[in-house]
This record gives sequence, C-alpha cells and structure tokens, in this order.
Amino acid sequence: MRPYIICHMSTSIDGRLHPSRFTSPASGNSAAILRSHYERVHDQFDADGWIVGRRTMSELSKGTERPVKDAPRIAREAHVGPRNGRKLAISIDPSGRVHYGKDNISGDHVVAVLGEQVSDAYLAELREDGVSYVFAGPRGDDLARAIEEIASLFGVKKLLLEGGGRINGAFLKRQLIDEFSTLFHPAVDGVAGAQSIVDYDGHDGDRPGAGQSLRLTHCETLEGGMVWLRHAVERALG
Ligand SMILES: NC(=O)c1ccc[n+]([C@@H]2O[C@H](COP(=O)([O-])OP(=O)(O)OC[C@H]3O[C@@H](n4cnc5c(N)ncnc54)[C@H](OP(=O)(O)O)[C@@H]3O)[C@@H](O)[C@H]2O)c1
Repeated sequence: MRPYIICHMSTSIDGRLHPSRFTSPASGNSAAILRSHYERVHDQFDADGWIVGRRTMSELSKGTERPVKDAPRIAREAHVGPRNGRKLAISIDPSGRVHYGKDNISGDHVVAVLGEQVSDAYLAELREDGVSYVFAGPRGDDLARAIEEIASLFGVKKLLLEGGGRINGAFLKRQLIDEFSTLFHPAVDGVAGAQSIVDYDGHDGDRPGAGQSLRLTHCETLEGGMVWLRHAVERALG
C-alpha cells in the first residue's frame, strides 16, 4: 500500500521557493529562529523518511562521480543496501545524475529512484556506496510504482515530500500528495517568474491539481511571525 505523503515546505507569502531571496525579518525577529521552525516541524511529523527531486538532492549530496570500470551487466531490479533502522532519504533521479560517495544524507539512508536506462557503471557506483535503489519504469517517471515498492521493501507508512517545486508538482499531478504542511515566512520575494513551491512542468492550461481539493486542518502562528498551515488533500470520487 502507498504511504501517506505530506508535502512539507517553507515559503514567502507569495509562494516562492528560495529563502535566500526573501526580505529580511522585521526588527526584533530572529532569522535563525524562523529558519529553525522547518526542521522542528519536520522532526515533529516523525515520518519514515523524506523525498526530494534530483536538483535538491544534488545540493545536499557532496559526492563526486567515480567511474566503475568494466561494471558487469546488472539486472534492473530493486537493490536494498544496509539500512540499519535509519530513516530514508529518497532521491527522484531518473537519469542517475546524483553522486553520493556514502550511503546517507545527514544520517538518513539514501534510496535512489531511477529510470531503467541508467548505466551499469552508475548502478555499480551506488552499490559500492551502500545506496539502495528502485526503478520507476523505463523513463523513471512512474512515481506511484516506485513509492509503492519503497513502502513494501522498507515498510514505510509516512513520508515527507520536501521539494523542490518541480518534484512537488509531479507528485501533485499524479495525486500522490495527501497533505500540505506549509510554513509561511513573514517575507516576500516579489519577482515575476521566481520558482514557487509547487511548479508543475506542464503545458499552458494544464491543471495539476484537477480533481483535488484542499481542506484547512491546522493554523498556528509560530515565534517570529511565521504561520504554519496544514491542508488535507481530498480527491473527487470516481
Ligand atoms: N523552500 C524550501 O523549503 C525548499 C525545499 C527544497 C528545495 N528547495 C530549493 O529548490 C530548488 C530545486 O527545485 P527544482 O524545482 O528546480 O528541482 P527539484 O524538484 O529538486 O528537482 C527537479 C528534478 O527532479 C527530477 N524529476 C524526476 N521525476 C520528475 C518528474 N516527474 N517531473 C519533474 N522532475 C522530475 C528531474 O531531474 P532531471 O533533470 O535529472 O531529469 C528534475 O529536473 C533548489 O535550489 C533547492 O534549494 C527549497
């Protein structure tokens, strides 16, 4: 069964993605306290792991490419490295572009979600690093199948989807988000076209949220004037 997925993001009041672009906190409000709310709420959910897109994972992972010479042919089947009870750091990386050099990000065990077209040398590198992987179909875009496989292999029941905007948009389009947890900074970005926290990569007129409605379930003001909203996603029947 698919795990419960909460899209947990922080944003400016205009829904933008990059905190480095936000206006400064008002006098007397601490930027450090505002920043700390994100991880505190993340921990409070006590999820089995978190999911990010390839671009976000590239920023978190410090590994460099290590070509594995003469890698044997490796079957396109899921591989489970030693998890040792850790939470999961799930990377949606269809082309196999992220290099890890270890089996974890901040202590959480890495699981790469790949397309079947990645090279044998790349799979060999992941195995050497102790990284687990699953396949999301030939092109790496069958996200529902990949998440279900992760749930069954690792016994996960709750996952946080933590950006960036493009991967959040892909999950929304596939109706894979059960809840939004959004932390609004008392700040604005303001530039037309700046990335937003849900940025589906589709054609004009596409509505990735079609058939889904949001119901407000929680509203709380946190220290420094940050507002935390939680919305349940309800799906139209049929
Ligand atoms: N404010 C926050 O709380 C927050 C949280 C997380 C991240 N961020 C920021 O967000 C930025 C990155 O956001 P982003 O939206 O550019 O990238 P992203 O969502 O992190 O990654 C997008 C990539 O995911 C891969 N992907 C796999 N399946 C996909 C699908 N079905 N549809 C679309 N992409 C798919 C693609 O990789 P390929 O290109 O290899 O195909 C795509 O380029 C970073 O700068 C990060 O710092 C902010």
